[in-house]
Amino acid sequence: MYHHILLVLMVILHHAQPYRADGPGSWSLLLPSIGISAMHMQLLPNDRVVIYDRTDFGTSNISLPNGKCRPNSDDCSAHSVEYDVGRNSIRPLMVLTDVWCSSGTLMPDGSLVQTGGWQEGDHVVRIYKSCDTCDWREMISGLSQPRWYATNHMLPDGRQIIIGGRQAMNYEFYPKKSANEDAIDLPFLVETNTPDVENNLYPFVFLNTDGNLFIYANDHAILFDYAKNQVVKTYPIIPGGDPRNYPSTGSAVLLPLRLVQGKVADVEILVCGGAPKDAYANANTEKFDKALDTCGRIKISDPDPQWVMETMPLARVMGDMLLLPNGNVLIINGVSAGVAGWELGRDPVLSPVIYRPEKLTTCRFEVQNPSTIPRVYHSTAILLRDGRVLVGGSNPHDKYEFSDVLFPTELSLEAFSPLYLDPSLSGLRPKIISPKSKTLRHGDKLTISFKISCPIDPNLVWVTLVSPSFNTHSFSMNQRLLILEGGNTTVSLGKSLYQVGVKVPPSGNIAPPGNYLLFVVHLEIPSEGIWVRIP
Ligand SMILES: *[C@@H]1O[C@H](CO)[C@@H](O)[C@H](O)[C@H]1NC(C)=O
Ligand SMILES: *[C@@H]1O[C@H](CO)[C@@H](O)[C@H](O)[C@H]1NC(C)=O
Repeated sequence: MYHHILLVLMVILHHAQPYRADGPGSWSLLLPSIGISAMHMQLLPNDRVVIYDRTDFGTSNISLPNGKCRPNSDDCSAHSVEYDVGRNSIRPLMVLTDVWCSSGTLMPDGSLVQTGGWQEGDHVVRIYKSCDTCDWREMISGLSQPRWYATNHMLPDGRQIIIGGRQAMNYEFYPKKSANEDAIDLPFLVETNTPDVENNLYPFVFLNTDGNLFIYANDHAILFDYAKNQVVKTYPIIPGGDPRNYPSTGSAVLLPLRLVQGKVADVEILVCGGAPKDAYANANTEKFDKALDTCGRIKISDPDPQWVMETMPLARVMGDMLLLPNGNVLIINGVSAGVAGWELGRDPVLSPVIYRPEKLTTCRFEVQNPSTIPRVYHSTAILLRDGRVLVGGSNPHDKYEFSDVLFPTELSLEAFSPLYLDPSLSGLRPKIISPKSKTLRHGDKLTISFKISCPIDPNLVWVTLVSPSFNTHSFSMNQRLLILEGGNTTVSLGKSLYQVGVKVPPSGNIAPPGNYLLFVVHLEIPSEGIWVRIP
């Protein structure tokens, strides 16, 4: 049995040599055109993905259904589509007001609540609940402040918080407790705003396990009690002091939260990439500075948290960071020079990189096989239930431009398959037999049975919960991965069948209400996920 496991480990280690051109992972083109450029994406609990760009990009390459046109307009094209993962097909949707550079979060009932945008869309709250004939519903004055480039996150009480945005140094909630519930000032957004450049848009926001919010903007971060409007803690400036938020767009993740005895001992944030301080001004004079090649990692659960810096094998601005079901971090998309914004990025980075948080510092990064399609400004990436990563978008132009430009508007959808999906490893992949899906309550015990054709080591079994995040502008809002307690209690029932009992996290601070993907992982190889819901 251990001989078997050793062999697998050797396969994985063999692939773990960094800097290899023929690295692991593979790409496939799913659809050459979905008709729009995927600027925003959200996976929904029926395995469809709602995608939209902006309503003022000009005519898209997909028509609205049934000969419809936009109100008071000769534009009869769609600016939002629904992608059906199983059928690999799309359906056009009608979004009425401008959703450009907006934000959102999936609600516990499975609908996407999306907020803000540009011009007539900047106060709008839009709801998309998927079905075969469903479409967007819009509430014109759903927000109390205009929000453009804001960040949303799910809260333990089932509401979402909406933070910041251009010239919106405050936050508010959806749904509101009363119609006149107003926005609340957040001076941190004033402090982190660089005059004429900003560098603090789409702040990186995560719910800490103590119920406070970790908010990172520009070059530093706070722990924030949103209920009392109080800064609980101020973190040190990231070494180097270079900006990491739009337009110097880096990305960030909350590293996997491991539950032991109902608690999470270590809460860590990883911020990667971005652009040097003067990069935005320089890019506007046609000088494209090399992107940052550093990541900062900070244990926010420490009494005296300090940044620890690491160097990526590839410099990157506008990279997306995604948590894979096995707890590794995928860094994908973006460019290696310039900044975000119209025409300001250069030198696409075609190779993703995987970061293994649990490995020794010297062998955490692993370069993956490259795509052939540049994914520059306004590109996106999200995790799918089967473990693939859906990649789309890229349009650094004010309108759709398909010729005579450095980076033509990209309408295609691709999938990146990490090494764990390699057919040679299929015999080692767990398959969840039951449940098929489930509604869970905090503190519940959940029994899962799964099949795997090779013998397993219970100490190497993880059961993970991943929240499907809202992705735009290189940040995945509401992204979270929990390693449940009890993976090591896996027992064999014979005939390749196994059973494991795990505990649902005890509180909404650790696992806010919502839909999650649940995976059984063995030796870094995840099963297909199942949908579970914490109402
Ligand atoms: C999109 O439509 C434009 C204008 O009709 C056309 O030039 C272009 O080739 C189309 N692009 C794709 C990728 O379909
Ligand atoms: C599983 O791991 C936990 C936490 O490390 C430990 O307390 C427990 O005894 C282990 N259980 C088994 C069956 O190994």
